[in-house]
Amino acid sequence: MRVLITGAAGQLGLELGRVDWGETERMLAVRGALDITNFDDVVAAAGFRPDVIVNAAAYTAVDRAEDEPERAMAINVKGVAHLATIADDLGATLIHVSTDYVFDGLKDGWYTEDDAPSPTGVYGLTKRAGELAALESSRSIVLRTSWVYGALRPNFVATMRRLASERDELGVVADQFGCPTAAADIAAAITQIAAQGAGEPGVFHLAAPDDASWWDLAAESIALMDPPRSPTIKKLTTTEFPTKAVRPPNSRLDSSKIYQTYGVRLRSWREALAEVSAELNHAG
Ligand SMILES: NC(=O)c1ccc[n+]([C@@H]2O[C@H](COP(=O)([O-])OP(=O)(O)OC[C@H]3O[C@@H](n4cnc5c(N)ncnc54)[C@H](OP(=O)(O)O)[C@@H]3O)[C@@H](O)[C@H]2O)c1
Repeated sequence: MRVLITGAAGQLGLELGRVDWGETERMLAVRGALDITNFDDVVAAAGFRPDVIVNAAAYTAVDRAEDEPERAMAINVKGVAHLATIADDLGATLIHVSTDYVFDGLKDGWYTEDDAPSPTGVYGLTKRAGELAALESSRSIVLRTSWVYGALRPNFVATMRRLASERDELGVVADQFGCPTAAADIAAAITQIAAQGAGEPGVFHLAAPDDASWWDLAAESIALMDPPRSPTIKKLTTTEFPTKAVRPPNSRLDSSKIYQTYGVRLRSWREALAEVSAELNHAG
């Protein structure tokens, strides 16, 4: 099997680069080598003749997207459409990664794939349009995940650790809830799906099975620091911490469909966070 991975220098892309793919031949393409908004680049990469294309490339700056919707649209929609076109031409499967931010977060309960998307910001709107662009190819698999972190790139966990080492007190939003998901766990799940021939297309939720608030995630991230730090972590409301793009208050993704279809179930976020924290502690 041959797998083409786009966005290989991103948080998920780097994990897709170091996860064990067994005998699979991989082409890891960073943006400089394969800009997904450039159809010529995509056609050139198709020369590798992948059986599976994993799209880890994305415009992910949630607040900045409010000011540059065209750029977010070009990467998150047009770029995905290019990949879907090439996947169709090759008879390959496109595995495309999407987000909990396609929902407005107003549901009372966990989101399933049957819930209607209703994004509240430009990022979410472009990601939803990107899902539809991916699904233009009949074999495509769209994996919606949430609150991604890892040891290799800046993210919320790394920021909380940095702030905890710089300050005696910090404030974190405690009224938004989601499923913190390790990039390494998403990467491992993608290898499992690809190894099964990526046979069942459609939209799937792929996130940790348990939920947390940003405050919970910050508190646990800081508790796992070595050397230890113990700043005061104040609980903030969303109104006390305004952001340019509106965040969904409830990002809980029910990931049972991917378990029923592909037998893939991710670890609890605390277990995965302990592993990522150990790596960060070791890196110093
Ligand atoms: N991070 C989260 O909390 C989160 C939550 C839910 C879903 N997701 C989704 O998960 C996926 C992976 O996210 P991530 O956290 O790994 O994001 P990331 O760290 O921002 O990585 C995205 C990568 O895409 C690259 N890229 C941007 N424009 C490109 C283009 N035109 N052509 C090729 N590559 C391009 C970026 O390159 P540069 O570094 O050069 O910009 C970067 O390496 C995305 O689809 C995202 O929407 C993320």
